[in-house]
Amino acid sequence: MFFRTAFGLTRHFSSTVFKANFGVGYHTAPVRNAAQIASGITILAAQTPIAQGRVRQIWDRPGYPDQVLKTIQPGKRAKFAKRSRLRRAVDDIRFGPYRTFRIEYRYYARTAFKCLKAQRPNPIAEMGGLIATDQGLAQICEKITDASGALASTLKVLIEANALDDQKLRWLNECIETLFVLNISVPDLSAENIVFDEVRQRCLVVDGYGDKAKIPFRTWIAYLNRAKLDFRISNKIAIPGRLEWDSQTRRFFLP
Ligand SMILES: Nc1ncnc2c1ncn2[C@@H]1O[C@H](COP(=O)(O)OP(=O)(O)O)[C@@H](O)[C@H]1O
Ligand SMILES: [Mg+2]
Repeated sequence: MFFRTAFGLTRHFSSTVFKANFGVGYHTAPVRNAAQIASGITILAAQTPIAQGRVRQIWDRPGYPDQVLKTIQPGKRAKFAKRSRLRRAVDDIRFGPYRTFRIEYRYYARTAFKCLKAQRPNPIAEMGGLIATDQGLAQICEKITDASGALASTLKVLIEANALDDQKLRWLNECIETLFVLNISVPDLSAENIVFDEVRQRCLVVDGYGDKAKIPFRTWIAYLNRAKLDFRISNKIAIPGRLEWDSQTRRFFLP
């Protein structure tokens, strides 16, 4: 009797917590209480994000110093929450505010397989699973750092600081070469989405990959993807007088 009651209570307790966090969860304001902690949801509200992009916030993962969590910014989640129940149900078929996660995971898996076959290192930063947090679903990612253990510099920061040396240029060219050779689609390739891993001496893409198109021509037709990569690099990354790009050899060089 005691156990049945206890079990019933636990079930009631966890389903209440679950509803509070998942039923309409991705847009609820962060609440921190014992029930949430007991439910195993990772609490991020007490921390501040260590970086921010256009869509996501990056957090240190509590208890895992070599990992980061990536969540969707509250404003973007709230946009979905304001919609009618019917609209939300339709949105949810495509993962609601987390649509971008699905695109990335699919493409990450495809790329990992390509790299395995070609025996090349994966140019995309390692990703783990998804976990529940008080900021909605979070992607677990390897934390890329500089030599001191601080969050890695982006290519943008290094270009602006004129801090690209021959060694970093080599890591960058190796990463870009893999994108072209294996025909990896990174339609949002930019200097903010490339980071330098000083520990393992390489350059990695942290965002912007995947094919969002309904008809994925770029995945099917290598020429189109390579043209897109070249266009992004020439127009969004290379800066005359700072970091130049040679479309013929597909290499960056310092002026
Ligand atoms: N795995 C990672 N390791 C280190 N820094 C990262 C990692 N992922 C992202 N970042 C940093 O966080 C910033 C924003 O992340 P990003 O994934 O690009 O978010 P968004 O999709 O919002 O643009 C990046 O520009 C980069 O500086
Ligand atoms: Mg980004």
